[in-house]
Amino acid sequence: MSSVTAVVLAAGKGTRMKSALPKVMHTLAGRPMIHWVVRAVLEAGAERVVVVVGHGRDKVEAYLKGAFGERVETVVQEEQRGTGHAAQVALPAVSRGLDEDSVVLVTAGDTPCLRGADLRALVDAMGDPTRAMAMLVATLPDATGYGRILRRDADVVGVKEHVDCSAEERAIREFNPAVYAFRLGYLQKNLPGLQPNNAQGELYLTDLVARANGAVADRPVDPATVEGINDRAQLSALEARILHGLARRHQLAGVTVRDPRAVEIHDGVEIGEDTVIERGVVLRGATRVGRGCTIDVGCVLTNVVVEDGVTMKPYSVATDSRVGPKAQIGPFTHLRPASDIGESAHVGNFVEVKKTSLGRGSKANHLAYLGDGVVGEDVNVGAGTIFCNYDGFKKHVTTLDDGSFIGSDTQLIAPVRVGKGAYVATGTTITRDVPDGALAIGRTAQQNKEGYADRLRARLKSQKK
Ligand code: UD1
Ligand code: CA
Repeated sequence: MSSVTAVVLAAGKGTRMKSALPKVMHTLAGRPMIHWVVRAVLEAGAERVVVVVGHGRDKVEAYLKGAFGERVETVVQEEQRGTGHAAQVALPAVSRGLDEDSVVLVTAGDTPCLRGADLRALVDAMGDPTRAMAMLVATLPDATGYGRILRRDADVVGVKEHVDCSAEERAIREFNPAVYAFRLGYLQKNLPGLQPNNAQGELYLTDLVARANGAVADRPVDPATVEGINDRAQLSALEARILHGLARRHQLAGVTVRDPRAVEIHDGVEIGEDTVIERGVVLRGATRVGRGCTIDVGCVLTNVVVEDGVTMKPYSVATDSRVGPKAQIGPFTHLRPASDIGESAHVGNFVEVKKTSLGRGSKANHLAYLGDGVVGEDVNVGAGTIFCNYDGFKKHVTTLDDGSFIGSDTQLIAPVRVGKGAYVATGTTITRDVPDGALAIGRTAQQNKEGYADRLRARLKSQKK
């Protein structure tokens, strides 16, 4: 079989997005629009993808390079003179090393719900070597805005843009989703001759349909899969559809997703069987949740590895961190980057952890700040403990060895170490290392002055007048 190359047209500005960001870089379920389209053409078997870029091209190029590497290359369309012109600009890169029988898929960069299987059907339709082109078609009750499909007898003989249509033609419900397969030789022969004879004065790729003299294979598809995005209302509508599909995939794979409309599980997130995802949960980036976990209401996890059997109670937020097996987090815990919570450890409400590891079975259950720390196993960190890690210039490490006990309202002025099994009395400010097994106590002795409270009150009251 001859090889398949794909062209994705993505040079347009996307004026209706009203954005400094190029349209195709707006994200759906955590991936830019262009990602979804490139993935679909790769799924359809394209060996090489040429993306036509223009507006905001630096951002688009950088993204594509990072996400797809060598398989995707870009060509620049300096001035956007229409879809036919964009295809002309791509032609030299597409032609490189290919013979004229090769199949070229062409699609727009703003139709993220496109399915690889539908593109594949176009490639298959080109199996007949005499075929010049194949295209998807779809039908809507009202196809306003789209190019309409013109047929003679059963054959597709042309596409007419909405603005160029007569009132009669505008009643046509069958439209052009702008997804095509072309024989390379057909593009090479016909693209150079395109003329801007239309209402917009542009070079229309769609003019190639009329030139094929009825030798066009058309494949009907679900209009929902070829819907384009022009504004942010359409962006959110299609994102909701993609998110719903992703949530459903997890459900069918054994995850309880309480309400698929009320969660945001981004593309690429992995979740194990028998895990429960409650309402309002957002899972982003390279997040991986194990089996048998509960991620309770309102938790937001970005690039977090959660091992099996973890409970994350409501409204906990974690980023770039790891939570070990059977650990319990929250409610209202904040795990900032590079936190590593050990097996069966507990981190409770209003505890902020940053770049700190907590060993197996250790606990910090209430109101604490653990920054730049190394906490061993079975350590108890009392309420109100603060790792004073920052002197205004540098960050310093607090080390709590295995089995140590940190009483409530302790400040540890880093760099400092509390030894194995050591005990820090409540209310102590630790400025020096505590040896293994020692008790550190650093608080002023209490005095009780009998009757002073009443005397004090009387004096203050008399001063108030
Ligand atoms: C195009 C089709 C129309 C079809 C519709 C489906 C033409 C003439 N019309 O219209 O029949 O129903 O798509 O959505 O092809 N682009 C470039 N360079 C350009 C112009 C466009 O790269 O000079 C890119 C855009 O970034 C976009 C895609 O091509 O991703 C489609 O362009 P757009 O202007 O949106 O075409 P439509 O008017 O929607
Ligand atoms: Ca469009």
